[in-house]
Formats: sequence, structure tokens, C-alpha cells
Amino acid sequence: MSEDSFTVRPATFRDAAAIFNLVRSHPNELVPRSISDILQNIDRFYVGETGGVVVGTISWGILPELGSARHPSVELKSLAVSASARRRGLGRALVQCALERVSELKPEQVIVLTFVPEFFRRFGFSEVSKEKMMHKLYTGCVNCTRFDSPFTCPEIAMAKPVAPSTTPEA
Ligand SMILES: CC(C)(COP(=O)(O)OP(=O)(O)OC[C@H]1O[C@@H](n2cnc3c(N)ncnc32)[C@H](O)[C@@H]1OP(=O)(O)O)[C@@H](O)C(=O)NCCC(=O)NCCS
Repeated sequence: MSEDSFTVRPATFRDAAAIFNLVRSHPNELVPRSISDILQNIDRFYVGETGGVVVGTISWGILPELGSARHPSVELKSLAVSASARRRGLGRALVQCALERVSELKPEQVIVLTFVPEFFRRFGFSEVSKEKMMHKLYTGCVNCTRFDSPFTCPEIAMAKPVAPSTTPEA
């Protein structure tokens, strides 16, 4: 997919260092990702490039379920566009590509924790209570070193419904 002069494509192992640097350069907005974590999840990343240089990235993770997948949820993560490439449509193109890809999995919802809720509202995300996704966030928030609790963390939890669950509740 091309947007403005950008190309958005699935990441390859060769993009790992660029992704690492992009994520690391946003310590106030993004959870750091190690090179090893990026390499092991490279098939869950897209990158945006211009002139052969990676200037944007996004990834996603599948949130844990106990037993059968009753409410499968996917979290968008590690969205970053280099400051010099912003406001030209790349962020939107990355989110749209990631949403198209994860929608193929037919999750019940896609979630995001963000400081830019207005950006995500444009894609149909709306605010949800963190309490509702505590069991989902546990694996991520449990490792947080910035805030003592998800409830003192200023990030806003948002969700976008994708495919209503068809599996009956046990
Ligand atoms: C948020 C971010 C990815 C946006 O990237 P971008 O390439 O500038 O976004 P786009 O140019 O595609 O903008 C798409 C739309 O969102 C709007 N928008 C962009 N940044 C916005 C922001 N910070 N707040 C509200 N709206 C924003 C644009 O005006 C545009 O609106 P339009 O549809 O009316 O034209 C980028 O600012 C960034 O990397 N920020 C730092 C890291 C971060 O916060 N990541 C999100 C973590 S969840």
C-alpha cells in the first residue's frame, strides 16, 4: 500500500534494527521492545518507508484467553512515525494495514492503550474502562516500571469492535 510518498509493507528481519530504534526513540509513548522480541514477532509488524528508509512501524499482539477463545482480542502496539514524516498520512496507512490484517483473524475487538485518543477515534476506536480489560492487560501492565498501577497510568484504553463473538458463553 502506498500513501503520499510512503510504502507500507510487512516487516522483514532486515527491518528489526530500524524498528528497534523507532520504538526506542519514543520512550514516553511506547513500551520498549528488545531486538529479540522484535525478531520473534517480526511477522506481526508492518513498516512504512520512504526512499528505502524505514520511518514508521506498527505491530499487534494477541491477548491471552483462558480456555476457548470466547472474546478474542488483538492489541495494536508499537505505532510510531518519525517526527520528520508525520502528518502526511503514514500513521493512518499503518493503522489501516494493521486493522485489515488482524481483521482476517476475526477477533471480537481490537484494543489500544494510547496517549492520542483523537487519532484512534478516526478509525472507530472508542474509550473503554481499563477494568474491563484488566485480565487482558495483565501480561503487559505487570511489567510496567513507569506507573505503580494501570489506574495511575494516564494512557487511555480504547476498543474497536470487529467481529461479534459467535461462541456461546460456558
Ligand atoms: C500518532 C502518530 C503515529 C500519527 O502519525 P502521523 O503519520 O502523523 O498520522 P497521519 O498523518 O496519518 O494522521 C492521520 C489523521 O490523524 C490526525 N492526527 C495525527 N496525529 C494526531 C495526534 N497526535 N492527535 C490527534 N490527531 C492526530 C491527522 O491530522 C490526520 O487527520 P485527517 O484524517 O483529518 O487528515 C505519530 O504522531 C507518532 O508516531 N506519535 C508518537 C508515538 C505515539 O504516540 N504512538 C501511538 C502510540 S498508541
